[in-house]
Amino acid sequence: MDHDATTSSGAATGRRPLTRTLVAVGIVIMLAGLLFGYDQGVISGALDGIQKDFHVSTFLLEVITSWVTLGAMVGALVAGGLADRLGRRATILLASVLFTIGAMVEALAPGSYVLVLGRLVVGFGVGVASVAAPLYAAEMAPARVRGRFVSLYQLAITIGIFVAYLVDYVLSHSSGWRVMLGVSAVPAVLLVLAVWPLSDSPRWYVQVGRRDDAERSLRKVTGARDVTEDLDAIQGAVAEDSSRAVGWREVFAPQWRTPLTIGVTLAFLQQLTGINAIIYYANQIFAAAGFTSPQSQSLATLWAIGAVNVVATFVAVAWVDRFGRKPLLFIGTTGMGLSLVVVGAMFLKLSSVDPGTTAHTTGTTGEGLITLVALVVFIACFAFSLGPIVWTIINEIFPSHVRGKAVAVATAANWFAAWLVSQFFLSLVGLITTTGVFWLFAAFCGVTFVFVRRVVPETKGRSLEAIQSMWGDQDALAAAMRDE
Ligand code: BGC
Repeated sequence: MDHDATTSSGAATGRRPLTRTLVAVGIVIMLAGLLFGYDQGVISGALDGIQKDFHVSTFLLEVITSWVTLGAMVGALVAGGLADRLGRRATILLASVLFTIGAMVEALAPGSYVLVLGRLVVGFGVGVASVAAPLYAAEMAPARVRGRFVSLYQLAITIGIFVAYLVDYVLSHSSGWRVMLGVSAVPAVLLVLAVWPLSDSPRWYVQVGRRDDAERSLRKVTGARDVTEDLDAIQGAVAEDSSRAVGWREVFAPQWRTPLTIGVTLAFLQQLTGINAIIYYANQIFAAAGFTSPQSQSLATLWAIGAVNVVATFVAVAWVDRFGRKPLLFIGTTGMGLSLVVVGAMFLKLSSVDPGTTAHTTGTTGEGLITLVALVVFIACFAFSLGPIVWTIINEIFPSHVRGKAVAVATAANWFAAWLVSQFFLSLVGLITTTGVFWLFAAFCGVTFVFVRRVVPETKGRSLEAIQSMWGDQDALAAAMRDE
């Protein structure tokens, strides 16, 4: 799939102000990010109430937390096929409807198994949306705003997590977990309303032979009357792509082994550094660090994790094109690793209770406060480095004709790793202690540092075509490796 097909429309429209359609597409991508983020964040505040109502085992609590990511992994894998067959717009609609149903099932679940079912359905919806919405936005947006649209997505994810924490905080005094989970239907319904009046992408219409619809859609996106040149460019790109019609075999072909290894490994490592263990289990971690009341835990989670995550993402948006990907990754993974070592050391000192239970120490201690500060550093470092940059790189390194499928593979790998971590976090704490787990995450920060240094080339300031040809050109690759 060639997301660059609409690039020429950017040239044709020059510095035109955003059309109404483009603003609407921006809203769609933001809502999809919010949906993703809200869902990642909300479970942290809901676990306590679920535990109280259903008396579930640690394993089942982990399943309730993590099976969203399992559903999302399957959703991400099938999303590309669905988006080609049904269209991008219909696929986003389908994802939102599924998501709304799943959220209702969660909110009304009479027992833990129905709750797990709801989590799977919600996850499937999130996974489909996590591939279809950026794809739709990338195909609708002219080149001049495409990069910003992709950053909007990551920003919206962090805002979604923050809003989820806020809802958790407001409801933390009551057993409000049903409302917390049910509220996630709101952005999904808004997404249906936002996508409904829009047309599909010009690129998809051309792909299915609906040139008139493609022309109408292009006019709305660009605000220009004459779009023949753009339409011809898209038609040419689609024809070229279908002449090289790719199956899965091409995605795994030897010449793309390096970018695929980079994409999948970075997607995996992003999760193995423990980000979602902290996003999901933040309240429990703060409880074990001495924050006694559910309100104080939610407050710490809201500001130390949620707000810092949003603010630091702006740093990445501002700096990633100026300083480059690798310097930010080096600084970020170093900061993450060191702060995790500190968190681990504090838990060694506290050695009170496991975050798997919400039993308490006597109150917020010095160790608890140091843990809080270290987690702030961890989140900030993640948010300006591994968080957004992994997604940037995944969307840059693949040649256009395998990009759709390759991005889906890397996205599914990311969901799979997220599942692994959230599924086994509490059990692992039981096995090797909280300290051991945080030090393990720290070790993966080190692995990420070395991997980026040895294997990942700098992509800043290089065109997608230059990146693509680099994989077959040892000199160009070596130059990009040195360019740190
Ligand atoms: C990751 C998510 C994570 C989020 C936190 C994203 O880049 O892929 O798994 O929850 O960042 O902000």
